[in-house]
Amino acid sequence: MRITWNNRSIKYTHSEKNVIFKSLNSAVPLTQGKFIKLFESNFEKYQGKGKAYAVANGSNALDLAAMIINLKKNDEVIVPAHTWCATAISFARFGAKIVWGDIDSETLNISIESIKKNITKKTKAIVAVHLYGLPANIKEIISYAKKKKIIVIEDCAQALGALVNKKKVGSFGDISIFSFHSNKIISTLGEGGMLVVNSKKFNTNIQALRHNGINQFKNGHSYYWKPAMTNIVNVRKGLWPFNFSIGEIQCLLGSMLIKRIDQLNKIRIQRAHKFKNKLEKFRELTFQKVPQKYKHVYHCIVAKYEGKKYKKNKDDFISLLWKKFKIQCIVQNRPLYKYDLFKKNGFKNSNCPKSDVFFDNMISWPFYVWMSDKEFNYMINSTISVLQELRSK
Ligand SMILES: Cc1ncc(COP(=O)(O)O)c(C=O)c1O
Repeated sequence: MRITWNNRSIKYTHSEKNVIFKSLNSAVPLTQGKFIKLFESNFEKYQGKGKAYAVANGSNALDLAAMIINLKKNDEVIVPAHTWCATAISFARFGAKIVWGDIDSETLNISIESIKKNITKKTKAIVAVHLYGLPANIKEIISYAKKKKIIVIEDCAQALGALVNKKKVGSFGDISIFSFHSNKIISTLGEGGMLVVNSKKFNTNIQALRHNGINQFKNGHSYYWKPAMTNIVNVRKGLWPFNFSIGEIQCLLGSMLIKRIDQLNKIRIQRAHKFKNKLEKFRELTFQKVPQKYKHVYHCIVAKYEGKKYKKNKDDFISLLWKKFKIQCIVQNRPLYKYDLFKKNGFKNSNCPKSDVFFDNMISWPFYVWMSDKEFNYMINSTISVLQELRSK
């Protein structure tokens, strides 16, 4: 057996494939048609709050978020250092100074202490990432941000369907974003994203920003071709629109997949619980702590490996599991301030010891819904065997 990090989370059902196949012929047009509206309205129903805008990927949704909060020179945005780079890039692109927040070492999400430590008069927004599928401490973040009149953006790229007190992530902040990349909870053929705007004041002609400034002419026109088929508007001076459009076939698929989110998450949760239970006695592994009334949807299974007692480290674990059992664990989310992209653009200094420590000791197992039970059990048993061997050698 061989279990690699393959970056694909789900397979499509026969009926999904059939609908897609038929629509390849019948869908007219292939973009900006009825399916984007269907996808957005189904997503709004699922989320229960906010206005949804489908885009080509989660990074584009972050770009739109950065545009609509109207960043000014010297504005600061607090972003966790331990997240995927896209969370920070969009805000940097639109001129923000990125201030790195540290994580809570038990949940691995941005800590409220670190937010409080980094807040200044220039803080415009906080980005709360619900990393690996576990909601961040969002209620406390929101109540603190409200007092300080700071915008909260939820990065739900990895946490579609996760809950805090039965309320969906993405419905707490002013704005939230989702990703339908190949390895996410659902995927619209490899790429896709959604911006959700919960606060009316940010709902400022996003249609136009998303698609080359295109709007309908306000007062209609006597001939549809005069002066042009559509208007091209200036949403805000100096803010040039993009084309972040997602295709119709992807939207049709997305609108069907929404029905399966909770079922897919159920499988993830059951498996993650089994994995953690079987490994419970190995104290050298610690998994994300799930606070009460939080629903963790396990986009990934990650753990900290502390093998010092046995004079071993995470590299010993990862290489032995690969060499002996051909199971490919990886290390994710190097603290972002360590990368050239951020260092060379002035966002290097940081004081995030917990992000550093976690990164130095982390392991992430391959975890996707279509892994067979046989493979999954093999992965558990192989992990146990490697942990035992590392204890004894
Ligand atoms: C936390 C986080 N934010 C944002 C993104 C960006 O999403 P996309 O890959 O769809 O652009 C990702 C994707 O990996 C992510 O994991």
